[in-house]
Amino acid sequence: MTKVQLAPDTTLFPVPIVLITCGAGNEANLFTLNRISSCNAEPPMIAISVRPSRASHDLIEKLGEFVVNIPWPDMESVCDYVGTTTARTTDKWAEAGLTRLPATAVQPPLIAQCPVNIECRVQRSMSLPSHSLFVAEVVALHADTSVLNERQEVDFALAHGLSYRSGIVRERPADNFRPDALWQKVRAWSSYA
Ligand SMILES: Cc1cc2nc3c(=O)[nH]c(=O)nc-3n(C[C@H](O)[C@H](O)[C@H](O)COP(=O)(O)O)c2cc1C
Repeated sequence: MTKVQLAPDTTLFPVPIVLITCGAGNEANLFTLNRISSCNAEPPMIAISVRPSRASHDLIEKLGEFVVNIPWPDMESVCDYVGTTTARTTDKWAEAGLTRLPATAVQPPLIAQCPVNIECRVQRSMSLPSHSLFVAEVVALHADTSVLNERQEVDFALAHGLSYRSGIVRERPADNFRPDALWQKVRAWSSYA
């Protein structure tokens, strides 16, 4: 090995790409997020980091609730689309062809097309230099039967590899971001799904 020293960065691998839903009723929104971690076992807790500039940030603060929706691998373009458009100017649900389902314990909806949906209630939050950290308890979990093993556990090997990449790569869209090209991919996915 020949190593070089690089500028400090988080550089963790792998990082999941998830879709977060937040807000209730007509305000319900979704966005893409990779800064996520399992951070407690009993009770199960998850931490996410969200920039205050996101429209979703205020919705999470307002309700103290969000849902982590884990997408199928072929939803990568959809993830890039809702991770590069804002609810302030775009109806992302309609544009991405995604469907809302009612959650059981929280107000934000589940994304029907995602095989796993994790309902979370915020217990603590902390302002970090660029992001807000929301630490939340998992209060309900939903999974498509096709991703469950014989012990009724979610087994991602059965999901044929979800969207995991290096954190640095997946802070931005997977392809060079060209809105037209991305839009074509999203249309192709939503007419097939
Ligand atoms: C792959 C990917 C990962 C992202 N990860 C995060 C993240 O961890 N935290 C965050 O605040 N924004 C993240 N974003 C950016 C938001 O998804 C993006 O700013 C989105 O447009 C916010 O939508 P909103 O304004 O409707 O809330 C990510 C975007 C992409 C494409």
